[in-house]
Amino acid sequence: MSAEEGDHFKQVDAVREAFEREFERFVRFRGIPLPEDLTLGNAEGFLRELNELRTRRTGRKSDLANLKKMIGRVSADERAEFGQRVQQLEANITQSINNSEVPLMGFVGLAQMERERLDVTLPGRRPRRGHLHPITIVQQRIEDIFVSMGYTVEDGPEIETDFYNFTALNIPPNHPARSSQDTFYTEDGFALRSQTSTVQIHAMQRRRPPLRVIAPGRVFRRDTPDATHNPMFFQVEGLLVDRRITLAHLRGTITEFLRQLIGAETRTRFRPSYFPFTEPSAEFDFSCFKCGGGGCRLCKGSGWIELGGSGMVHPNVLRAVNIDPDEFSGFAFGFGIDRMCALVYGLDDIRLLFENDVRFLEQFN
Ligand code: DAH
Repeated sequence: MSAEEGDHFKQVDAVREAFEREFERFVRFRGIPLPEDLTLGNAEGFLRELNELRTRRTGRKSDLANLKKMIGRVSADERAEFGQRVQQLEANITQSINNSEVPLMGFVGLAQMERERLDVTLPGRRPRRGHLHPITIVQQRIEDIFVSMGYTVEDGPEIETDFYNFTALNIPPNHPARSSQDTFYTEDGFALRSQTSTVQIHAMQRRRPPLRVIAPGRVFRRDTPDATHNPMFFQVEGLLVDRRITLAHLRGTITEFLRQLIGAETRTRFRPSYFPFTEPSAEFDFSCFKCGGGGCRLCKGSGWIELGGSGMVHPNVLRAVNIDPDEFSGFAFGFGIDRMCALVYGLDDIRLLFENDVRFLEQFN
């Protein structure tokens, strides 16, 4: 046997030794009982690694595959023995891997079955009946009242362009509400709507006047949370556009709405104010439902509770959506649903509404 030919056989040994070194950590899975520290998770991991080892050691690019290619090239007198040794090695490697793989697979199969086992004789778990969130309850009450007055409930996007959140609402370029101190912006310059007034614009683009819509929904402002502020809260917007609409219609509508929501004896009060998208503008209050207007702690002694803003739709807003302000006029209003909710349920901190503490929420069942 020449030195070079002897090398073929040494290579077989080298491949065997390399395999055995790598395979050593899997030897312990060869038989029952399997190691006690085996779990479903790590058994699945070992199986995966075994599979990888098999590909690496017996696959097309393995050292073993190279040995097999060498069989045809060794001298004729050694070929038979060399071939036999290579085949033997292949059989040993395959057998070793299988010997550890089979028990592992059995273990994984059983563990999976165990995990999915169902005892059909156990008593059922009764599903807990859910209920609406207090804000939703109040929002639905508000919707019902306006729908009964012929309004449609509209929806609008929570992420807006400058046009809908500001420009079309007659809010000038340098208005403080536009600053990033007050409004959340996305990196590409969209605003999280800071008021539901945006839906006025969508509504007028979608349907031409005459129209009456309300739009409840989430709004976002850069406020630090406290008892009366939260960076996300709910508003409802109202908009009516028709021919010859006056402040009297606005006042009658708000008053009727509050009588239905709070009680038939409720009175309303309008105070001059300013909003860019209405002219004239007014804030509206309603008589305190706790003291009836005499003054108490809830209304801070004034007899009135402030609720929202309103006014006659500014001609520029109508123009922004190509409605002729000489033909049509309208009124709009908006107020906070969470604030209304806190009033109705006597909550002293609106953050309770957003903390999702079931001990609090369950009380509205
Ligand atoms: N958007 C105003 C706010 O968030 C509320 C408001 C005022 C809405 C006057 C209106 C309105 O529709 O006419 O403070």
